[in-house]
Amino acid sequence: MLASLAKAFDQAAVREIEVEYLGRSGKFNDIMKSLKDLSDEEKRTVGKLANVSKIELEAAVQNKYSMLESAAFDVIADTEWMDVTVPGKKPELGHRHLISKFIDDLEVIFGRMGFSVAEGPDVETEHYNFDQLNMPSDHPSRDMQDTFWIKNLNRMVLRTQTSPVQIRHMESHEPPIRIIGMGKTFRKDNDATHSPMFHQIEGLMVDTDVSIANLKAVLTHFLQQVFEDSSIKTRFRTSYFPFVEPGMEVDCTCPICHGEGKLSDGVPCTLCKQCGWLEIGGAGMVHPKVLENVGYDSNKYTGFAFGFGIDRMAMIKYRINHLRLLFENDLRFITQF
Ligand code: PHE
Repeated sequence: MLASLAKAFDQAAVREIEVEYLGRSGKFNDIMKSLKDLSDEEKRTVGKLANVSKIELEAAVQNKYSMLESAAFDVIADTEWMDVTVPGKKPELGHRHLISKFIDDLEVIFGRMGFSVAEGPDVETEHYNFDQLNMPSDHPSRDMQDTFWIKNLNRMVLRTQTSPVQIRHMESHEPPIRIIGMGKTFRKDNDATHSPMFHQIEGLMVDTDVSIANLKAVLTHFLQQVFEDSSIKTRFRTSYFPFVEPGMEVDCTCPICHGEGKLSDGVPCTLCKQCGWLEIGGAGMVHPKVLENVGYDSNKYTGFAFGFGIDRMAMIKYRINHLRLLFENDLRFITQF
C-alpha cells in the first residue's frame, strides 16, 4: 500500500488506494476478519499489531492528501501570483468641457445683473429664426447667414443665431424682460475662426425707458467681468442687423495689450493685430417691428439686444489660437482646462 501511495499523483488516486486497503470491504478488513481463525494468544498480538499499522496507514493517507494539496497551492502560487505592492492603475477622470464651464461663468455674470436664462431649440422654424426677426424670405439680409435647411422638414433650419430665443421668450412673457439665451448655432462656415457649429450668447432687455446707455453699461460691465479686467473699454460702431435699429458692432479693448497694440516690452500684439480693439459681436435697440411682431406696444416699450460669440470670447480669454481645438476632443488640449 505504501508503495502505491508513493506513486499516486492526485487526490483521486489516493482515494482509490484508501478504499482498496482501508475501506469497509478493503484488504485491511479482510485481514481483521481472518483473525477469528487464530488462537487467543495470536489474536491479541496480531490484533495489536494490526491496530498500530492501521493508524500508521491512515496517517500516511492523510499525509499524502496534504502533500498533494500543498503541491497544488504551490502551482497556483507560481502561476497566479501578483505583486500587491505595485501601485494601482489610476482611473482617468473626465471633467466638463471648457465651453460648458465658460457658459456657466457667463450665466453667473448676467445672473448678478438680474438676467435669467431662456431657451430655444437648436432646430428652428423659419418663422422664429428669420421672419419674426424682420428677415423675410425676399430680404437680402438673409444672405448674411449661410443656412443649413433641414431636408424634408417644412422650412426648418439649424438655427443660425440665438436671436429666435428673444422672440420665443417675448411671445410668452410681458415686459420687464431681462434674459440671456446661450447655445449652439450653425452656419455653413469653416476656417480657423469659423466652424459650422459655434456657440452664441444672446441678451435681451425690454422695459419702459431702456436706452443705449443701458446697453453700453451692461455690455461694458459684462466684458470687464468675463476678461477679469476692469480697465476694458467698449466701442460701438454702426452696423446693420434687421431686428435692431440702430444696429452696431461691439468692440472691446484687447485684454492682452490693453488697447495699446503692443505688449509692455514693445512686441506687437498678434491677437488684435496691433489695432488695440477686438470685435466681439452685434447689438442694437430692438426694432419696433420686432416688438410689434410679438404684440408689444412699441410706443410704450423699448429694449436692447446683443449677440456675442461664446467660443471667440473663450479663445481670447484662454489664448486659444484655433477654433477647431475646442471641438476636436483631443485630450491633450481638453485636459489643460
Ligand atoms: N444675431 C446676430 C448674429 O448672429 C447678432 C445680434 C444679436 C445682433 C442681437 C444684434 C442684436 O449675427
